[in-house]
Formats: sequence, structure tokens, C-alpha cells
Amino acid sequence: MSAIELSKPQWSSQKVFILAAVGSAVGLGNIWKFPYITGENGGGAFVLVYLLCVALIGLPVLMSEVGLGRLGRANPPQAMANLAADFRASPLWSLLGLNGVLAGLLILSFYTVIAGWAMDYFVESAKGSFRGISGEAVGQYFSGFLANPWALLFWHTVMVGLTLAIVAKGVKGGLEKAVNFMMPLLFLILLVLVGWSAAQNSFGDSLRFLFAPDFSKLTWEAVLIAMGHAFFTLSIGMGAMMVYGSYLPEGYSITRASLWIVFADTAVALLAGVVIFTVVFGNGLEPGAGPGLLFQTLPVAFGQMSGGWFWGTLFFFLVVLAALSSAISLIEPAVSWLEQNWRMSRIRATLLLGALVWLAGIGTVLSFNAWKDVHLLPGRTFFDSLDFVTANIMLPLGGMLMAVFMAWVIPAAVRRKTFDLGLVGDALFIRDLRYIAPVGVLIVFASNLVESSLHRWIAVGVALALYALYAYNRSRYNLSIRPGE
Ligand code: PHE
Repeated sequence: MSAIELSKPQWSSQKVFILAAVGSAVGLGNIWKFPYITGENGGGAFVLVYLLCVALIGLPVLMSEVGLGRLGRANPPQAMANLAADFRASPLWSLLGLNGVLAGLLILSFYTVIAGWAMDYFVESAKGSFRGISGEAVGQYFSGFLANPWALLFWHTVMVGLTLAIVAKGVKGGLEKAVNFMMPLLFLILLVLVGWSAAQNSFGDSLRFLFAPDFSKLTWEAVLIAMGHAFFTLSIGMGAMMVYGSYLPEGYSITRASLWIVFADTAVALLAGVVIFTVVFGNGLEPGAGPGLLFQTLPVAFGQMSGGWFWGTLFFFLVVLAALSSAISLIEPAVSWLEQNWRMSRIRATLLLGALVWLAGIGTVLSFNAWKDVHLLPGRTFFDSLDFVTANIMLPLGGMLMAVFMAWVIPAAVRRKTFDLGLVGDALFIRDLRYIAPVGVLIVFASNLVESSLHRWIAVGVALALYALYAYNRSRYNLSIRPGE
């Protein structure tokens, strides 16, 4: 193990770390994915489940993940191996890190394709193509664009190239500089858009759609999607936050940083949702339009507002930047793993992974045109399948295991020192990590495994019984954690 180079503290201040982590969290997930899955799953009730998942599962898992990174001081597979060795757990825990490395690359392969759409819209907006455009006309433009694999491939290539260029420069030169100015700007422009929305007649409909829950529209699958999205949008469960945590010097507050990340991420998603549904309801568009929702609505808004050319162009530019600051964190676990465990130079690792991601992205490009009817998972295109497997399975699974590791393997004294939550805070934190976060994920998983409701409860029962058995064993035999603690 001594042969492996560990991560060194790199962030130059607590503020820079927070910016980078917010940069990772805030991205296409907030501006593109959140509105369209909310539209597809009926609005309010879905949003409520998502917010509950963010608060009860997302926040504690985020804190755990950053904490595991700082304590493990390495890329995710190695960090987990280090911690497992330190605290006498199975070396198999490093698989948790590998799950993250793989998930990050899979996500990135479609992430750059979608970011490419935003790039195309940036150019179109700058050219003035959206001036006074109707909902119908944007819809036509968008479907024409999707039908052209070469256009999608071109922008996908550009986005992969930009990501690699930033990542190759390393943490200090690349990541820090990129996030420093763009996050505040993005927030500002969203506020301008919300101001515009508030003056529209459909603003009330938008708020009602997002915040008045109608539970008859909620299915178990929607709950799974909402929970998966809580992981996706906070960048947790796959090691991005773990690597960022491994670059964290002692003494920075993980708890404070995590609260900022959750707050900023949630705010951006909700603001984007409010704006997009104002346009949807004001122009007779379809809330359940799917992945094209953002791209079929916002140009209409910009087309109508005064100064829309300026705001629209700036907005799509910022979406691209927000996507880039997330993209670099999607590849960072894999890059640092190749650097540290495979002794590859940063440039080489970046290029190799970039080639893989670029190739895999072609599947997503084609899934919107030539492979429209080709299904990888039943009923799901290549893109839908990747999205489903990563966001709804790999990330929640990874995040759940991080919570379990923090709760049952890391000794209490180490945990208290890492998070400095005070007596009450720590008591709440550990109970959430033990009895809420993993149990929540298990229930949602188990209930999606089966169709009929009787079998559903059996599956949930079996999952919970297994977890109780594990928890009982841990608390009974691990000397570092005493029962009744
Ligand atoms: N959180 C990012 C977004 O919302 C996506 C992401 C997921 C980034 C996982 C890193 C890790 O767009």
C-alpha cells in the first residue's frame, strides 16, 4: 500500500471547496432533468418526495461521502480500501468505490451529449434564431436537431474535449478557476428569469403544479425516480464528493459545506422549475414532454421578453458552464484512481477515459434518432437505460452503502471529530444514517423490484429483515460501537 500515492490537500480555501462542490452538484440535473422528470411524474407530490429525499437521505449521505473522502485520503476505491483496513472491515468495500468510478463514466457519456444541446442553443440564441419564436417553432427546431446524429455528435465531441481540457490541468489550475465566477452568475440570471415569470399570467399555475401535491399521481416508480434524482442532483453515491473530500485540508467544516451544497442545489432546481412551468402553462405546452422540455420551453420565454436575446444567450452559456463544472467531477474519481493506483500520468488517464466516454456517448447520440426504437432495457432506449441504471440504481446503492459504512464501521469518536455536530446534532446524524437513509433506499428499491402489491410488501420485509440482521451484528460485535450509544 505504501506504493500508492494518496490525495493531498489541494483546495486553497473553504470557500473554494464549497464552490467546487456546488459546481459539481448544480448542473444539468437541476436545470434540465429536474423539470422534465417533475413534468413526467405529475408535479407537486413528486417534488415533495424529492425534497424529503434530499433532506433525509441526501444531506447525511453527502456529509458521509465527503467525510469518507477526507478520512480515506485517496480516490474512491482506494479510500474505501484504506478505511476498511483501518477499521477492520472487509476489503470488498473498495468495490463501492469502483461502482462509483464506473457510474461516473457512464453518466458522463450521456451528460456531455445533453450539454452539447445547450451548446447548440447557445449558438442559435447568439445568432438571434429565437427572436419571437413560438412554442411550435421551437418544437420543430428541436426535433430537427435531434434527428441529426452528426450535429449531436459534433457537440458531444466539443463537450468531451472541453471537459478533458479542464481536467487535464489538475485541481488547482483547472477546477478551481472554472467554478469561481460562474456559479454566482448562474444564480443571478435565474433570478432575472423568475422575475420575468412572476409577471406572467401562468406563474400561479406553475407554482400550483410544483407545490400543490396530488398524491393520486404518485407511483412507486415515481418515488424511485425522485429518490434517484436526489442522489444525482447532489452528485452523491459515486465518489465525486469523496474525491473532492480527499483534497480537503483538516479543519474545514464538512457540515457547513454540505448545508451550502444542499441549499444552493435545491434552490437552483426549484427556480428553474418555476420558470420552465410558467412557460409551459403560458404557451399550452406539454409538461410531460420528456428530455426536450427545457429546450422546447425556454427559447419561447426569451423570444418574448425584452432583452431576451441577451438573457437567452447568457443563460445557455451558463448552462454549458454549469454542466462543465459537473462533468469534471464525474470523471475525477476515475482519473485519480488511474493516477494513484495505476500510476498513470494525469494527461494520459484523462485522454484514455475521454476516449471511452466519447465512444459510449455515441450510443446516446443515436438513441435520439437511428436507434430510437432500439431498447437496451425493456422499453428503454440506450440513453433511457443508462440514465435509469446510473441514477436510480448505482447512485442510491452507492450512497446507501456509504451511509452504512459511516454508521456501522467508522468509530463514534472518529465520526464526532470529523463532523463536529455537537451532542444533539450527532445523535440525529447517526440515527438518520442508521435507521432512515439506508432503510429509505431499501424500501424504495424493494418496492420497485416487484409488480403486485402483496409481493411488494414481502420484498420490503425481506430487505428490512436483512438490514436489521446486519445492524444487530455490527452493533453487537464491533467494539468501537457500543449498544445504546
Ligand atoms: N449533480 C450533477 C447535476 O445535477 C450531476 C452529477 C452527478 C455530477 C453525479 C457528479 C456526480 O447535474
